[in-house]
Amino acid sequence: MAEKELKKPAPPRHIAIIMDGNGRWAKKRGLPRTAGHSAGGEAFRRTANYCRTLGVEYLTVYAFSTENWKRSEEEVSGIMRLLTKYLQEALRDMEKNHVRFRFFGDLSRLNPKLRKLCLDAQSRSDEYHEVQVNFCLNYGGRDEIIRGIQAYVRDVQAGKADVNALTETGFSAYLDSAGIPDPELVIRPSGEMRISNFLPWQTVYSEFVFMDVLWPDFSPEDLDKAIEEYHRRNRRFGGA
Ligand code: FPP
Repeated sequence: MAEKELKKPAPPRHIAIIMDGNGRWAKKRGLPRTAGHSAGGEAFRRTANYCRTLGVEYLTVYAFSTENWKRSEEEVSGIMRLLTKYLQEALRDMEKNHVRFRFFGDLSRLNPKLRKLCLDAQSRSDEYHEVQVNFCLNYGGRDEIIRGIQAYVRDVQAGKADVNALTETGFSAYLDSAGIPDPELVIRPSGEMRISNFLPWQTVYSEFVFMDVLWPDFSPEDLDKAIEEYHRRNRRFGGA
C-alpha cells in the first residue's frame, strides 16, 4: 500500500473544470435552480481543498460565462449572491486557507461590490502559493482573445510591440491567463461533451475527461478517477 502510494504519479499542475449540471441536480430534487448552484458552490470548496491536498498548483473553474446573462434575472442574481458570499468568506479566512485567487473574464460588467471583492481577493492573496484558483467570471474564450487583441493593438500603436515579432508565447501574455501554464487536464461533469467557449487558446493540447456525475455530486473520488484517466492516456500517448 505504502509502496503503491509512493509510486502514485504527480497530479497535473493545472486542472480546469466546467462546473456543469447544477440545474439538473436541483430539478431531480424538485428544488429551485439556485439550490443547485449553492450545492455546486460546496462541490467547488471540496474540490479546491482536495486540489491543495494533492499539490495541484492551479485550479481553473468556469463559474459564469458571457452567455450566462441570458438566464433568468432570478438565477443570475442568485449566482452573483453566492459568489459574493463565497468571496467575503474567502477574504475572512484567507490567512487560514492560503488560497491564491485570480479572475479570468471581463469583470467590468459585474456589480461594483462583487468586482471590488474580486480585486481585493486577488491582491490580498498574492503572497500565497499553495493552490491558485482561477475563477472564470463573465468569461468567454473568444471574448478573452478579442480583449487580448485589443490590448496588443494598443501596445503596437504605442510603439511598445512589434507586429512582425509576435509569437504564440508573446500573445499569451495578453490573455487573462498570462503567466499561468496551460491546463493539462479539463474535466466536464454532467455528461455534456462540449467546451462551451472555455479556454479555447489554452486547451489545444489538454486531455479532456467527460464524466456523467452532476457537478454538485462531484467528489474527491471523482477527481481521483479523472486524474487516473489522464495518466492512463498520458502513458499511452505522451512523451517524445
Ligand atoms: C452550470 O450548471 C453552472 C453554472 C452556470 C454556474 C456555476 C456556478 C456555481 C457552481 C456556483 C459558483 C459559486 C461558487 C462559490 C464557486 P447549469 O445550471 O448549466 O446546469 P444544467 O446544465 O443542469 O442546467
